[in-house]
Amino acid sequence: MDLLTIKNLKIHYQLKNGVFKAVDGVDLEVKKGQTIGLVGESGCGKSTLVKGIMQVMSKNAFFADGDIEYNGESMLAMSESKRRGILWKEISMIPQASMDSMNPVYPVVDAFVEIMTLKGGKSKKEAILRAEELFELVGIDKSRIKDYPHQFSGGMKQRVAIALALCLDPKIIIADEPVTALDVIVQHQVLTMLNRLKNELDLTIILITHDISVVAQTCDDLAVMYAGKIAEKGSVLEVLRDPKHPYSMGLSNAFPDLLKNEKLISIEGSVPDLAHNIEGCRFVSRCPFAIDQCHTLEPVVTEYENNRSAACHRAPEYRDLQQLAEEASVWNKVTTT
Ligand SMILES: Nc1ncnc2c1ncn2[C@@H]1O[C@H](COP(=O)(O)OP(=O)(O)OP(=O)(O)O)[C@@H](O)[C@H]1O
Ligand SMILES: [Mg+2]
Repeated sequence: MDLLTIKNLKIHYQLKNGVFKAVDGVDLEVKKGQTIGLVGESGCGKSTLVKGIMQVMSKNAFFADGDIEYNGESMLAMSESKRRGILWKEISMIPQASMDSMNPVYPVVDAFVEIMTLKGGKSKKEAILRAEELFELVGIDKSRIKDYPHQFSGGMKQRVAIALALCLDPKIIIADEPVTALDVIVQHQVLTMLNRLKNELDLTIILITHDISVVAQTCDDLAVMYAGKIAEKGSVLEVLRDPKHPYSMGLSNAFPDLLKNEKLISIEGSVPDLAHNIEGCRFVSRCPFAIDQCHTLEPVVTEYENNRSAACHRAPEYRDLQQLAEEASVWNKVTTT
């Protein structure tokens, strides 16, 4: 059974003159022990989705439809006390830019003590001891727990953020852009550490990133999100090697192999305005393969072997489309590398 199942989830933002449909019908299954990558360009709803799972949404956000199930039970329908027993304890999150949002006037240990005393039922002394253990676990000397956020380097900040997410021994960790803005070497160190912790602590990880190379290095499975929906899902290798949705093709083309002298191909255009109703496919204005029905009919999700799926009218012809894409005649806006 899936550990976490997201069913047709819609999270909208109330605006003065209407609603902004940031997450608009997402289906996602997360299995125990899996590391699943969630990719998609800026503004496609990744953080909104995971903030919804953690129920730390902005004040103007609301669940418009769908459900989030943990171990088969609806987290939206369960009692508040039961939900409190799951959030942060069973499912924890490393929020986007988490260390930059930590209070600069308190030493970082205070955040650890706050979580473990308020949510974990530990005494202050126990919490400090545990914080020291967690620091060592993420490779920082325990003497640094009394340092202030600004005293840590970017890579160390991310390690501290990971340690903080581990405070209550969660089963699932949601990491929202944990290595963005780090240089590639530090990125690699942090991801290697996350992989090690996953194995040592038997974690399940949802990893959000813009960066396909991070996914390839870390994840088993991949969900490609576009404009509030999942465009394609499957194992990382299959989706990257053999994408069935034009957006995934574009994404993998956007990360060239420099050693092979490949050119960077950008996906022209931008995500549609989700404050307006979208007719047809949401990728249509940027899709080099669009046909008439793509403008009028929303594509349904087609399931394939090996737990793969894609929401594209032309998915059945994807091998031909891929051939065309590879010939670079369709992703015609080539930027120089
Ligand atoms: N409180 C809010 N009110 C209205 N719109 C919002 C609010 N918060 C986010 N949005 C919008 O919702 C959309 C999705 O935002 P979200 O932060 O989920 O994107 P994202 O995929 O995480 O992007 P990034 O990769 O840049 O972090 C964006 O267009 C954003 O401007
Ligand atoms: Mg985000």
